[in-house]
Amino acid sequence: MTALTLSTSGAPALRADAIVIGVAKGAKGPVVAAGAEALDQAYDGRLAGVLETLGASGAEGEVTKLPAPAGFKAPLVVAVGLGPRPEQDAGYGAEALRRAAGVAARALTGAKKAGFALPLADAADAGAVAEGALLGAYSFDAYKENGATGAAARTARNGKGPLGEAALLGGKSRDKAYRAAVERASALAEELNRARDLVNTPPNDLDPEAFAAVARAAGKEHGVKVQVLDEKALAKGGYGGILGVGAGSAAPPRLVKLTYTHPKAGKHLAFVGKGITYDSGGISLKPAGHNETMKCDMSGAAAVFAAVVAVARLGLEVNVTGWLALAENMPSGTATRPGDVLRMYSGKTVEVLNTDAEGRLVLADALWAASLEKPDAIVDVATLTGAMVLALGNRTFGVMANDDAFRSSIVDAAEEVGEASWPMPLPEHLRKGMDTPTADLANMGERMGGGLVAGLFLREFVGEGITWAHLDIAGPAFNESGPFGYTPKGGTGSGVRTLVRLAELTAAGDLD
Ligand code: BES
Ligand code: MN
Ligand code: ZN
Repeated sequence: MTALTLSTSGAPALRADAIVIGVAKGAKGPVVAAGAEALDQAYDGRLAGVLETLGASGAEGEVTKLPAPAGFKAPLVVAVGLGPRPEQDAGYGAEALRRAAGVAARALTGAKKAGFALPLADAADAGAVAEGALLGAYSFDAYKENGATGAAARTARNGKGPLGEAALLGGKSRDKAYRAAVERASALAEELNRARDLVNTPPNDLDPEAFAAVARAAGKEHGVKVQVLDEKALAKGGYGGILGVGAGSAAPPRLVKLTYTHPKAGKHLAFVGKGITYDSGGISLKPAGHNETMKCDMSGAAAVFAAVVAVARLGLEVNVTGWLALAENMPSGTATRPGDVLRMYSGKTVEVLNTDAEGRLVLADALWAASLEKPDAIVDVATLTGAMVLALGNRTFGVMANDDAFRSSIVDAAEEVGEASWPMPLPEHLRKGMDTPTADLANMGERMGGGLVAGLFLREFVGEGITWAHLDIAGPAFNESGPFGYTPKGGTGSGVRTLVRLAELTAAGDLD
């Protein structure tokens, strides 16, 4: 991954391939943002005009390249758009900086080192630039000719690897808050990028056991206890939902439990992730056109995994348990049929009317397992329904909960870290659509409001009195169009930053 360093050097003296500066959209044309003073001086204060001549407006996502003037060690200047110039005294805000840094890092693919001279008002801004640069520089080339990323592969590919090093300029590199913000950003970005790698890994190489193995290794490295229930243990324990979904696959299912504890923790959070390593639909097979990206159906589990490891690396004062419900949903002679009844871990019975509504089945068992420990709150994350994509589009996840205040806290936490989300209801009248004469409930209900029906199904498997929320990330988990801001094509790491923020707020006692 791209290295992040704090530099005390001024922009002119930095030995690098490029200097990144910010340009905002002003009322009368582009405005050069703070951080680029030395460069502006080198242009006799005419840098804004030079940028305008080159076609720059300061719009978000815009990249303008120009040769560096005499006196600069770096040969290239990359001016990145910050969007509208803020009111006097107001900063650009973390998200604008994160996006701009991400765009610049992507524009510098193939470069060894770049100095980021973006406007930093405080330590949080420095963290945002660090995060944006590390997330924006991400690329997944493990399956490209010449293999994985790294120096050797970069050379082999004519220098087309991700940006090698992002050096932050203009910050107070000895300031404690500043250093802490940048260290937080690095740990978070590293784990989030690991979640993206898991999502992007093709399903023939990432089956439930392979995912569990990755979790075991990371747990060992970062002080997270990892327990794995294999198919035998699942059968012995009565996990009918996870087993039922995995029944058609040659690769058996797993339930992975990640435990992070802090000696001074007062609260316990449980995160539960949907981990369908491939969703073919099962016997209710998805048609062509709907299954090409279904390796992304373990994005919820990847987010939970990354969040728990990040929480451990940050040493947060809260206990966090992660549950990864891993299975591959395949059709075969041993697969669950539409019409089968499963006895779930909670004891409830479910008539499977559509084997493509499998996420709720694996989550039901994991939610019940999480509930038995009586945590203060449970949050599940899942690429659960196409209906949520229709409702909210490709960049926003839906938040449902059995507690309105908790739902608002999650939407607020998501907004704080730059993840778009929206509160969704759990209308009681939709529950009866899942009634069936054969079992306690069916895994399908009314078609309209399908995302909410799925939420109501999950609610049935949350222990009495436990605060619970459900994030349906089916839209934002996998980016099928072009990259934007710090979001690459493919796996995005949706949900990770919101979960980590929730853990931080809980540790600080700001969430109850
Ligand atoms: N994994 C899919 C949901 C999905 C759709 C994720 C698009 C990402 C992008 C899920 O398992 C599914 O197939 N859901 C069905 C449920 C239906 C059969 C009740 C759906 O949404 O169509
Ligand atoms: Mn499905
Ligand atoms: Zn699915």
